[in-house]
Amino acid sequence: MKRKSLPALLGLVVLSALAAGVLLLLQPSADKAEPVSADHVTIVGFSQLGSESGWRVGNSRDIVAAAERAGVELIFNNANQKQENQIDAIRSFIAYQVDVIALAPIVEEGWENVLAEAREAGIPVLLSDRYINIADESLFAGYIGSDFLEEGRAAGRFLLRKAQGCDSVRIVEIAGTEGSTPARQRAIGFREVLSGDDRFRIVHSVSGDFLRSRGKEHMLNILETVEDIDVLYSHNDAMTLGAIEAIEEAGLLPGRDIIIITIDGEQGAIDLLKQGKINCVVECTALLGDLIMDLAQRLTRGEEIPRISHPVEQVFSEFDTDVQNIPPRGY
Ligand code: AHR
Repeated sequence: MKRKSLPALLGLVVLSALAAGVLLLLQPSADKAEPVSADHVTIVGFSQLGSESGWRVGNSRDIVAAAERAGVELIFNNANQKQENQIDAIRSFIAYQVDVIALAPIVEEGWENVLAEAREAGIPVLLSDRYINIADESLFAGYIGSDFLEEGRAAGRFLLRKAQGCDSVRIVEIAGTEGSTPARQRAIGFREVLSGDDRFRIVHSVSGDFLRSRGKEHMLNILETVEDIDVLYSHNDAMTLGAIEAIEEAGLLPGRDIIIITIDGEQGAIDLLKQGKINCVVECTALLGDLIMDLAQRLTRGEEIPRISHPVEQVFSEFDTDVQNIPPRGY
């Protein structure tokens, strides 16, 4: 059976690694039933959830660049924060008979049917960045992304150290997209570390959907309605940058009047750490592209891949002696 022509309806961006910087429409190639030859070019359909943050934009850019480096043909679709667009994109990848589908899922629930369709078509699915909640985990081949629970714990551990000698610590939390893995697990990991120490109270928690605009909006509201804020725990840098604008507009000093803990490690957040306006940045790397392409090529060759691959990540904070020397981040 030959590959069908690419559905134009979705406006999929088709990138060829063989012609860097040139947009090409892919032509049907190898028959799916045939074993892949040594010179087979892997075709990956990537469903990106959106472009809500600098992290996400950097992640997309890295995936496109990694495909070029690896000689992978990439069909990239941006779902603009809508799960239904991701499902449509996956169906389109199935119709086109890509070798591997990579999915960065906006939320954890609701993937059963479309992943069953991918399995029916014999196309392996690789989860990127975020996890899913599904009864039959054999519907995806593996996951490559951060350990969000550990990120939440690292944020909590920084605060435990920072709060030495304090009698009470009032925390506000601006969380990520409801129903997403990072929002759920960053909240759990943070609470896990602080629970049992009744000096710490999360006095307000709200979802900012990982958006800078919501971070600012929520922080303006919090500053008017919540008394005696000691700490802001923000689930990503985009919301943190917005919240810092609000804090400064209120005449307060971020990093001093309010301790700021953030997650991601965008260049903008690292710059503010260097200026003392952020106290701790827990890294969540956006640079997943090379790992994704490597796993996709292994899947295409029919090889086993690890169920879970976490990148190595670090914590940058005011306690580090070499904060001023943190190298450029790349996103
Ligand atoms: O899923 C990773 C998170 O999504 C990043 O922390 C955030 O910036 C992005 O929007």
